[in-house]
Amino acid sequence: MTDQNLMEKIVALCKRRGFIFPGSEIYGGMANSWDYGPLGVELKNNIKLAWWKRFVHLREDIVGLDAALIMNPKVWEASGHIANFQDPLVECKKCNGRFRADHIKEGVCPNCGEKGSFTGEQMFNLMFKTFIGPAEESANIAYFRPETAQAMFVDFKNVLDTSRKRLPFGIAQIGKAFRNEITPGNFIFRTREFEQMEIEYFIVPPKQDADWQGPFELWRKEILSWIKDDLGVDINKVHEHEIESTERAHYSKKTIDFEYEFPFGVSELYGLAYRTDFDLKNHEKSSGKDLKYRDPETNEECIPHVIEPTWGVDRSVLVILVDAYSEREGKVILKLKPKLAPYKAAVFPLLGNKPELTRLARKIYLDLKSDLMIAWDDRGNIGGRYASQDEIGTPFCITVDFQSLEDKKVTVRDRDSGKQERIGIDELKKYLKEKINGKN
Ligand code: GAP
Repeated sequence: MTDQNLMEKIVALCKRRGFIFPGSEIYGGMANSWDYGPLGVELKNNIKLAWWKRFVHLREDIVGLDAALIMNPKVWEASGHIANFQDPLVECKKCNGRFRADHIKEGVCPNCGEKGSFTGEQMFNLMFKTFIGPAEESANIAYFRPETAQAMFVDFKNVLDTSRKRLPFGIAQIGKAFRNEITPGNFIFRTREFEQMEIEYFIVPPKQDADWQGPFELWRKEILSWIKDDLGVDINKVHEHEIESTERAHYSKKTIDFEYEFPFGVSELYGLAYRTDFDLKNHEKSSGKDLKYRDPETNEECIPHVIEPTWGVDRSVLVILVDAYSEREGKVILKLKPKLAPYKAAVFPLLGNKPELTRLARKIYLDLKSDLMIAWDDRGNIGGRYASQDEIGTPFCITVDFQSLEDKKVTVRDRDSGKQERIGIDELKKYLKEKINGKN
């Protein structure tokens, strides 16, 4: 299977099975916009839940936030986004296509193939503008946030005062961000509207480099562990790339990109940056409000420094799909981690036209469904039903047969090994929960 072939297969599978559809499709689509369908939204929610549980619920030093998407435009002046959040744009003189200069390979136009026929670079600000209220005038300009991060700085004092956290501590947020990308593409990899999961982790201002390098290293390990243990993605395909000082975002003193071997090339999955006190200092200056942390024991005041691990939700979905995609005898098996799979199990009566089987299977289905996402299927032959569930990553298929009426046991078939076991109906929920929660 070529890499391009793999991407095509994944995009087709996503459409066919209701993971991801082209946006606004009945109107001819909307370039590079995608809608998450019934299974896609489950997968995406499972990722976000796993992240929130790991980094907020299971930790004492991180609290959550859910802030407005459109903030006071002064936020983006103070953060440096109005002046610096821009990409170099070039235009092909032949076809007038516009591209990000650093995405052009060997001077060839990606649209018409013309070589060396571009205009000079122009800087293009990536923030989406809108107007607040009915008058479209410059006094009413506002921006859709290009990162969730700024709300954690703007709300820093409110969170500090209400949560009474002590340094070091973090604020976490999951939410949409918007960027008017010049060259979006590669399915959900680069879009103009996407979701981020971000943590701003506040530390005491370092007296020496080791004081920020320590927490930076801890977060580096956390990101790798999330990829391996929570997403179940092959860590050998993940590469760390330290960004050159000339290429770093305007706020960062050190950045590592975590890249994955996507079918279209090794590309950024997540990032980790040392943002120093850049943001809090600028917001304090710009707002005139005191954003200092006061140590409750010494009463000493400081502007904390920040380590920022950042995760794209859509790139998490994509990396999971790419990594989990496999084929067995020409049939697709999506080897999703059970915790992330849209359905944890599917329940089938062996035959769809036998009321006694359907009655028992429905009872089992409804009981399991009160706790777990469970699929139901009573159409076609069992082999076809297995194949249909394999394709969407359902880890377990449960078949109710005539023997089940006698021995109160069902057949549980494992997606990856194809092995079948007889399990007591009373044991089923416990059995599935143990498998889903990691003992697999
Ligand atoms: N607050 C820091 C920040 O926003 P970033 O590297 O620009 O850093 C963080 O973005 C993450 O957001 C990326 O690592 C990626 O996972 C995701 N991301 C960024 N731009 C994206 C886009 N256009 N489409 C989808 N995901 C994107």
